[in-house]
Amino acid sequence: MAVESACAKIILFGEHAVVYGQPALAVPLAQLRARARVESRAGAGIVIHAPDVGQVIDLERAAGDEPLAAIVRLTLEALGEQRSLEVTVESDIPPASGLGSGAAVATAIVRALATHLRKRLTAEQVSALVFETEKLHHGTPSGVDNSVIAWEQPLRFVRRDGALELTPLRIARSFWLVIAHTGIPGLTRETVRDVRRAWERDRMAQEAIFARIGSIVDEAQYALESGENARLGGLMTRNQVELEELGVSSPEIRTLLATGLQAGAAGGKLSGGGRGGNVIFFAEPEQVEPVRDALERAGAAQVLATRVALS
Ligand code: PMV
Repeated sequence: MAVESACAKIILFGEHAVVYGQPALAVPLAQLRARARVESRAGAGIVIHAPDVGQVIDLERAAGDEPLAAIVRLTLEALGEQRSLEVTVESDIPPASGLGSGAAVATAIVRALATHLRKRLTAEQVSALVFETEKLHHGTPSGVDNSVIAWEQPLRFVRRDGALELTPLRIARSFWLVIAHTGIPGLTRETVRDVRRAWERDRMAQEAIFARIGSIVDEAQYALESGENARLGGLMTRNQVELEELGVSSPEIRTLLATGLQAGAAGGKLSGGGRGGNVIFFAEPEQVEPVRDALERAGAAQVLATRVALS
């Protein structure tokens, strides 16, 4: 039997502009995880259990685009193995909220299968397998979720001619993030489409926004790498102003942002696709609890406080 896990991820800075060639920064959330257990099965075939969502999947009969079945099939194919197995997955990561829940579950499955079958896979191989199933979830995934999660490392990423350039992001001093869910699923596909329409209408204006986001990302990277964490809150709030300008915010996001800032967070922004999903705050350690309490009182669907550690 083998048990393995994988972390969640969150975009700190740069979403949307990253689609147009600007850099973005994402970090793993080590405390929020998906887990997979793989064990041998007496009967024939492979059965996948996902009790969180009340699913039991018989691999033989599962559709080709069923993501859990697909990652098991792909991994066994890559490992050159065919066995009778029982796979069980569970996850603390809220789905459809920009935290990479699908990629984390898939990563945990790949790792547990490899461990159970006594094979070794590099982070790059894990990431590539998970990317294949990300296509089933998202159509045209960016590759960020599988990369940050497989390496479990903060990354700066730039998309150039369809390819993702990844560079490790060094975090000099750990910091706290408070993450509040609006209760509305993140609408990445819709907001990405709307930003594209606006760009097609007025490229100059939109590209000016993307460029401003790009410089905020560069400043944030410098602050993270030099331990100037006090600047991060202000940079988040500046990034949010630009996301508002892009039209990917929403009244629910604005309400949570106002609540967190009033409770003492140093800054905040939406994270991911927008119009729903999560809002993130940078908070000094002593502000984390008051910010969390205020967000819960204001009706956030879920509030997480997590320390982003040194890398
Ligand atoms: O919602 P998430 O965390 O999967 O992030 C979406 C990020 C976007 O920049 C809006 C889209 C993309 O493909 O990069």
